[in-house]
Amino acid sequence: MGKVIAVANQKGGVGKSTTAVNLAAYLGSRGYKVLCIDIDAQGNCTTGFGIKKKGIPASAYDMLTGKAKMEDTILQTEFENVSLVPGTADLAGAEVELIQMEERFKRLKMQVLTVKEQYDYVFIDCPPALGLLTLNGLTACDEILVPMLAEYYALEGLTQLMHTFRLVRSNYNPTLDICGIVFTMYDQRLNVSRQVVEEVQKYFPDKVFQTKIPRNVRLSEAPSYGKPVMYYDKNSKGALFYELLGKEFLGEELDNKTKWRMRRAMT
Ligand SMILES: Nc1ncnc2c1ncn2[C@@H]1O[C@H](COP(=O)(O)OP(=O)(O)OP(=O)(O)O)[C@@H](O)[C@H]1O
Ligand SMILES: [Mg+2]
Repeated sequence: MGKVIAVANQKGGVGKSTTAVNLAAYLGSRGYKVLCIDIDAQGNCTTGFGIKKKGIPASAYDMLTGKAKMEDTILQTEFENVSLVPGTADLAGAEVELIQMEERFKRLKMQVLTVKEQYDYVFIDCPPALGLLTLNGLTACDEILVPMLAEYYALEGLTQLMHTFRLVRSNYNPTLDICGIVFTMYDQRLNVSRQVVEEVQKYFPDKVFQTKIPRNVRLSEAPSYGKPVMYYDKNSKGALFYELLGKEFLGEELDNKTKWRMRRAMT
């Protein structure tokens, strides 16, 4: 049975979409069946998989507002084992439309339940807000994956996110759990980065991924080619670190060759 993971953080530009796209692509390449659901009006996850937003027959918006069935919104990407429910600009209106709808927190969950058994992993790329769309994401998922920057302000954001996490758990999703917190665009040379990591580890022991994604220009270039980084430049640092994250996510030990590649990439 598929595991549903919401990639969420109300702070903007922390690597949610990049993590959803690249972790999904890696897991797909390993033979797992993966579905990504883009519930952000920016549609970055959709672009990241090379899907053109013009001419999409049915999107996440249609699925959330009851205009289309989930299964009719799913597109195959050109990447191994990865399917996508595309996100389009009309999702911006969904925040308002959903307010008047029945079961407004559970609409995504009801749709996800109709397909989740066909996948090993379902990732939900949430928008940078704690509005109804993200609340739908948190209600629909089993676990939340939180990409964050190792900056001081990120700590305040995390406190707020955890408040929402508890609220959703007590009202809509009693088994909601934390998959993990992953630091992105990480610079290990900065003192503040290490301090923020320590602080987060203190509050969430065992929840911080050991793998920290460094800043890598290939990761920021890949979306403009509509490709996950491993298909854009498989030898890049970005591809290596999302592979490492994927392995840690799967609970795998690193083999010697991978450890060697990691040490070489970090120097
Ligand atoms: N490790 C990285 N190294 C370099 N650039 C990165 C890295 N991770 C993400 N980026 C770039 O940073 C920007 C923000 O990343 P991304 O879109 O994944 O964040 P987000 O949290 O999904 O943003 P939003 O909140 O707007 O949805 C993008 O331009 C992306 O290409
Ligand atoms: Mg995003």
